[in-house]
Amino acid sequence: MRFAEARALLEKHGQEHLLEFYPSLDRSRQRALLRHIDAIDFHLMTRLIDQWVLHEPPPEEFSRIEPVPLIPKASANPHAAEAIEAGEEALRQGRVGLFLVAGGQGTRLGFAGPKGAYPIGPVSSKSLFEFHAEKIHNLQARYGCTLPWYIMTSEANHDDTRRFFSQNGHFGLDPANIMFFNQRMVPCVDMRGKFMLSAPDRLASNPNGHGGCIPALVETGALQDARNRGVDMFSYFQVDNWAVKVADPYFIGIHVQRGAEMSSKNHRKNHARESVGVHCLCDGVYHVIEYTELDLYPQLLETKSNGTPLHAAGNPAIHILSAGFIERVYNDYDHFPWHRAHKKIPYVDRNGKLVEPNAPNGYKFETFVFDALRFIRHEPVAVEIERPGEYTPIKEYDGDNSVLAAWRCMNEYWAEWLEAAGSPVPRDANGNVTIKLEISPQFALTKEEFIQKARPRGAGKKWPTHHHLAIGPHGQLINQ
Ligand code: UD1
Repeated sequence: MRFAEARALLEKHGQEHLLEFYPSLDRSRQRALLRHIDAIDFHLMTRLIDQWVLHEPPPEEFSRIEPVPLIPKASANPHAAEAIEAGEEALRQGRVGLFLVAGGQGTRLGFAGPKGAYPIGPVSSKSLFEFHAEKIHNLQARYGCTLPWYIMTSEANHDDTRRFFSQNGHFGLDPANIMFFNQRMVPCVDMRGKFMLSAPDRLASNPNGHGGCIPALVETGALQDARNRGVDMFSYFQVDNWAVKVADPYFIGIHVQRGAEMSSKNHRKNHARESVGVHCLCDGVYHVIEYTELDLYPQLLETKSNGTPLHAAGNPAIHILSAGFIERVYNDYDHFPWHRAHKKIPYVDRNGKLVEPNAPNGYKFETFVFDALRFIRHEPVAVEIERPGEYTPIKEYDGDNSVLAAWRCMNEYWAEWLEAAGSPVPRDANGNVTIKLEISPQFALTKEEFIQKARPRGAGKKWPTHHHLAIGPHGQLINQ
């Protein structure tokens, strides 16, 4: 794009301030700025600014909001064995790919770097990425399959993420089976609907939300790569959920048995205001109402007489998406609703100086993957899960759904495994575990597997639980 073209386009949309620093930039930075301007989807941005900034959009209205029917967790489902068998068969046949969304900016955690690089291992300091990779090792060995791993990043963390994987030898996985691809970015706007500059040659922008995975999977060729490998469904998970069971055979099995397009796991919300989306049927259509929008639907905040939420189906953001569904819903992506977030957006002032605002000064726009649920044509498939061992997201260091909460939860979870395998774990007067524990998911993904693998240590031979204990991928003790 040439300067004159950019100026004409920006003037047409009242955004010519973007060229304010152009004359003072060197040639390469001028070209960079023109490239950014060329990449703006003016059609979309005009719509978003008009609907979401210049006017307050009315919320989607529903006359009936009901809980989504839940399929019981495996331990409470008399038909679990058949579902697990169907899921295992799909895994053995190589029909499953893994899909990780890791394009977010992870600002709440205050960690500089891709969130997946966060050293979550309480003893080993292993990263979230490494834990997920160890789960893949376990599953590949167990089912004799390859689980290709598709990782969506964004401009903000793509290079750092790739570097982290390569510095860590891709955690022992074959790099040919790991594909990183970028999602699109969307410009941020100030409160008057004007684009902002994050540098004299650069627009302030944000990744387009994990709903952006739909066009990204199709347009980057990731979906085609999966198809070429015989993959016809993706096990979708978020990078910050340390415990997530990737490619869970029970979940896959239910998805396969029901011929589903998109299936979702649900966990019981801790309290009505917990920062998780709520799965529900709105006028009979499957939706997730995001926690930031709960006040628009007060019935979703109602509680039972014992104080537990009436609408308790929380969204752990664990799904299975069929490849065919992604192909179909790609054509509906223009109809995905956009969501607006009021945020602190750093910008350059008239003197070209970067300002870090201390109050929200503009809007970011995102689409959400769970908005694809409204396009499914079959019955919704919503499976209930227990939180321990499935959902320990790391949103911040302390508080609800934090690093500290996840450590406590996993400590209790793994302590049970050790105790079941005959190794007592020290506890305080309240029954809380007093040492730090860590078991590599490559060594064992379930309590049963742990007990079975722990046995060869010999009768009466216990794990050394007098001090912090980390069991590595091959059952070795690490970092004691
Ligand atoms: C998210 C869900 C919420 C759910 C909760 C479960 C949204 C909007 N809401 O909340 O319903 O109950 O997780 O833990 O997601 N990401 C991208 N690209 C983006 C934005 C995000 O890949 O443009 C990824 C992030 O890297 C992360 C995940 O999506 O893995 C979730 O993003 P985050 O902003 O942390 O969502 P939450 O507000 O925690």
